[in-house]
Amino acid sequence: MRAWDAATPSPSQSCTPENPCSTSDQAAAWTFSCRPAGSARRVGPTGIAYGLDASDDMLTLARANAAQARADNARFLHGHIDDIPLPAGSVDVVISNCVIDLATDKARVLSEAFRVLRPGGRLGVSDIIAEPGLDPDERAAAEQRIGCAASPLTAEEYRRELHAAGFTGITITLTADTGDGLHAAIVQAAKPAS
Ligand SMILES: C[S@@+](CC[C@H](N)C(=O)[O-])C[C@H]1O[C@@H](n2cnc3c(N)ncnc32)[C@H](O)[C@@H]1O
Repeated sequence: MRAWDAATPSPSQSCTPENPCSTSDQAAAWTFSCRPAGSARRVGPTGIAYGLDASDDMLTLARANAAQARADNARFLHGHIDDIPLPAGSVDVVISNCVIDLATDKARVLSEAFRVLRPGGRLGVSDIIAEPGLDPDERAAAEQRIGCAASPLTAEEYRRELHAAGFTGITITLTADTGDGLHAAIVQAAKPAS
């Protein structure tokens, strides 16, 4: 199984009461945009689902999918997750699948996610987590093998970066062993309400 597949939440994983993407009547920012219909439905008719991606090709695909799904409340933004083109406090939920793992400066990405969330907002992402104790060569070999991870963090490092960004209520659930000391994981956290 590719790490990317393993980290992709199943429908049941992505729609539990604890999972941010299942909220309704909320605006969501999400960092992957080729499958917008689910998020657009979950935010309800008065919400907006933003899809953010750095690739024009992906945005073209996403827009086509949104049109096919008649997701009129989906908006697409060209940009980077370490510099999200949205104002502070503008969304209720940030979700992402296998994108943060590609970023080399994860602290900055998590700070950006925190910035764009409203107080009380939630983050729920699938990502790649490294086992503690891998030496740099082992990490590099595992990264190269799965092809979709740049400097993956351990769960402890991830928790520390989320905490440093201001998040609370942090949970990291390993969902699949992708081999060579890497795991797919669901990472959830909240921005304090006040
Ligand atoms: C592995 S794919 C994501 C797969 C997708 N999330 C899914 O669920 O099927 C990675 C995507 O992240 C985008 N991407 C990579 N780095 C990015 C960044 N720094 N900012 C925004 N998008 C990025 C790529 O353009 C690509 O569309």
